Amino acid sequence: MSMQAKKRADYQPPAFSISDVKLDVRLHPTATNIISTLAVARNGSHDHALELDGDKLKLISVEVAGEAFEHFTQTDDKLVLENVPDTFTLTIVNEVDPQNNQALEGLYLSQNTYCTQCEAEGFRRITYYLDRPDVLATFEVTMHADKETYPTLLANGNLIDKGDNEDGTHWVKWQDPFPKPCYLFAMVAGDFDLLQDTFTTASGNDVKLELYVDKGKKHRGDFALASLKRAMKWDEETYGLEYDLDIYMIVAVDFFNMGAMENKGLNIFNSKFVLADQQSATDEDFFNVESVIAHEYFHNWTGNRVTCRDWFQLSLKEGLTVFRDQQFSADMTSALSNRIKHVRVMREHQFAEDASAMSHPIRPEEVIEMNNFYTVTVYDKGAEVIRMFHTLLGEDGFRRGMDEYFRRHDGQAVTCDDFVAAMQTATELDLTHFARWYSQSGTPVITTTTRYSEDSRLMDITIAQHTPPTADQGTKQPLFIPVAFDCIDSKGNHYSDVDSKVKDGVLMLDAPSVTLHFTEVDEPLIPVLLGNFSAPAKVKNALSVEQLLSIFKYANDAFNRWDALQSVYSWCIDEFEQGQGDQISASVWQALSDVISSEKDNLELLGECLVIPSFETLSQARVLVDPNTLNPARELFCKAFATQLEPELTNLYEAIETGTYAYNQQAVNARRCRNVVLGHLARTSKGAELTSEQFTSADNMTDSLGALKAAQGAVPETFETLMQQFEKTWNNDPLVLDKWFGLHATTERDDILSQLSLLQQHPQFTINNPNRVRAVIGTFAFFNTAGFHDKSGSGYKFVTDYLLKLDEVNPQVAARIVTPLTQWHNYAPAYQTLMKTQLNRLLGKEGLSKDLFEKVSKSLAYETISERI
Ligand code: TRP
Ligand code: ZN
Repeated sequence: MSMQAKKRADYQPPAFSISDVKLDVRLHPTATNIISTLAVARNGSHDHALELDGDKLKLISVEVAGEAFEHFTQTDDKLVLENVPDTFTLTIVNEVDPQNNQALEGLYLSQNTYCTQCEAEGFRRITYYLDRPDVLATFEVTMHADKETYPTLLANGNLIDKGDNEDGTHWVKWQDPFPKPCYLFAMVAGDFDLLQDTFTTASGNDVKLELYVDKGKKHRGDFALASLKRAMKWDEETYGLEYDLDIYMIVAVDFFNMGAMENKGLNIFNSKFVLADQQSATDEDFFNVESVIAHEYFHNWTGNRVTCRDWFQLSLKEGLTVFRDQQFSADMTSALSNRIKHVRVMREHQFAEDASAMSHPIRPEEVIEMNNFYTVTVYDKGAEVIRMFHTLLGEDGFRRGMDEYFRRHDGQAVTCDDFVAAMQTATELDLTHFARWYSQSGTPVITTTTRYSEDSRLMDITIAQHTPPTADQGTKQPLFIPVAFDCIDSKGNHYSDVDSKVKDGVLMLDAPSVTLHFTEVDEPLIPVLLGNFSAPAKVKNALSVEQLLSIFKYANDAFNRWDALQSVYSWCIDEFEQGQGDQISASVWQALSDVISSEKDNLELLGECLVIPSFETLSQARVLVDPNTLNPARELFCKAFATQLEPELTNLYEAIETGTYAYNQQAVNARRCRNVVLGHLARTSKGAELTSEQFTSADNMTDSLGALKAAQGAVPETFETLMQQFEKTWNNDPLVLDKWFGLHATTERDDILSQLSLLQQHPQFTINNPNRVRAVIGTFAFFNTAGFHDKSGSGYKFVTDYLLKLDEVNPQVAARIVTPLTQWHNYAPAYQTLMKTQLNRLLGKEGLSKDLFEKVSKSLAYETISERI
């Protein structure tokens, strides 16, 4: 296995092209036979061999132009054919073993369903091929399988023929007319319940919509299908983009490494992002189903019709498609709570990644295992970069740029530079400097310094940017940053700078620093930066608690208002960490009480404002964190919050009407706010009573789970009782049971490790299912602060022991769960040592996967790098 990194700079166009692929597949659990017939042509004149990728394949025969072919050599991961003609038909026969494919890449069995996952480099686990996204071909697939066990046989495109054989098998033939890279290939065989619908496109084409789910789960598919139709309509209205085939199919499977996959005309989904009903799914689940359905649908244009030239360009499709699904969700639900949700992801996870050994630009420079680069940086920071284009170009300009992008590149495999060039046609602004966001990693820090003169009534505010060095880049340059800017005084007046450097509320910060001048000022002004999180940056703005509270009261931007309160909470938690929580003045508590009364009619904002920042968010704004002081300090503040504000919170809890369940924005906001409040009240003397009451009376999963979460840390005995009831109800429903697994795994208790062992013995738990593994081991590593960061190192060791096993089964999932360990540098020295000990155990393992090797070795090498920076 090659542990060598590939570099973006080394890109070479393919030496050969493949225009047509015909696959003939005979499904068999341990010996599926594949005949691949390829139309191959040499690109230009050269005499290189044809090097095909292949992984874990059993080769049976090779023919060139219908004749047996001998001039080939086989290595671990390649089939090399020497002296081939310029154009020819290549026929390869090989076998694969779906049943023993636990990595869930290529062709595998999920329960009794055959399915495929080819992105990024899984097609090479099906047959020998030029497995790279810039080789585009049409595909025709014939599948054969037992008719009774596998009545449904699906592949990309349109069904063109089918028939029965005498031996009880049947066959179908699918043809996809759109040339595509092989990572978009898909095949499914199984026995499903089917939901059907149609969508008529703006130009009048009737599209058949088909959703395939596990037998007996049909009633949980309606919401996903309705979401699909909303997404199709939205993309026509917003971007003028229509669907292009006569049929769109979605299949839900239980064993899946990620969320979902946008295979042309045949999406394959983790069932978690398809199945939802009032009883089994929370509001958050409904939200996620709609957004993932939309995300995969939007890929049909941003990803499939225009695809990536090479995998370094992944953000071309992912950043853009995440931005599009965020826009859609904001339109379907509400803008503010969506924005806050995405900012939390950036602060909790992306900032952490940027500060870690895995730091990379949204367009990475080098990669060992591509699966490791489906990251919050490529996806979510990538989406933030697209959002900044949107800010710079405006709504109309952005649309013109997108139109130009499709006009130029439909049917092509292109680069991020091509995208920037298309956007450039729609603006007077020179985007050269802005494009540095593609090549520079790290989180810029924006600072403000102020100078106020009472005599002259002048105020200067200097806004400066600085990006600290990262593991992958020692020196940084100034970025082009749109900084949404507002300026207020303590009475709520707003001020404009005299030179109008701030235009339409945005300062284009393109230099290391810019100074804004204000006149006729009677008190030091309060700068309010990065409204609506206008750039993926940190702000260091040394404001007092009083000033932060003024921002909450008077700033125009709702995100800024929310954010100011988050900073107040963070300051309070610092006070507790320093043992002076009792010094938080009555005026601060009064101000927080005022928040509740002033926003009682805006439950969306109020709900978010009552969320105390998570341990993860707090960590990102601190260095050398000691989890065993910060985490308890946070808890002490939460307790004080509940005690001080108990009457207000109680009134609020009682005043919020939720009524019978409906999934609409107003009801979601109400339930969300009420559950946040319950989380606080659980810490009071009424905790046991209130949580069990809500649990018992709930007519929906959101409120049941809300009660469990509230009880979790605060009233352990109630929690245990309710959890037992919950398990009885949902014992046969693994998707719901995952919530139960997750709650147990994130409970902070002394015997957590033996609890985790018990969970692994649960009849529904299996190491082969990524959803189960993430629910138990993943949530523990990411979110059980006290357990994972136990002073003894036992939490680190537990996760590592598990990863050593998991790596043999599913390296892709193992490499995700190792993330918190690789972020050791953010913790106090004693923890660092313990974490590195475990990373060294992993690195020492014989036969470690590429996936874990890349992340673990980089993380350990960070030691020397961090001395440099
Ligand atoms: N392209 C998919 C998406 O973002 C995600 C994806 C990448 C994926 N690699 C995968 C899904 C592996 C499943 C397995 O929509
Ligand atoms: Zn995607």
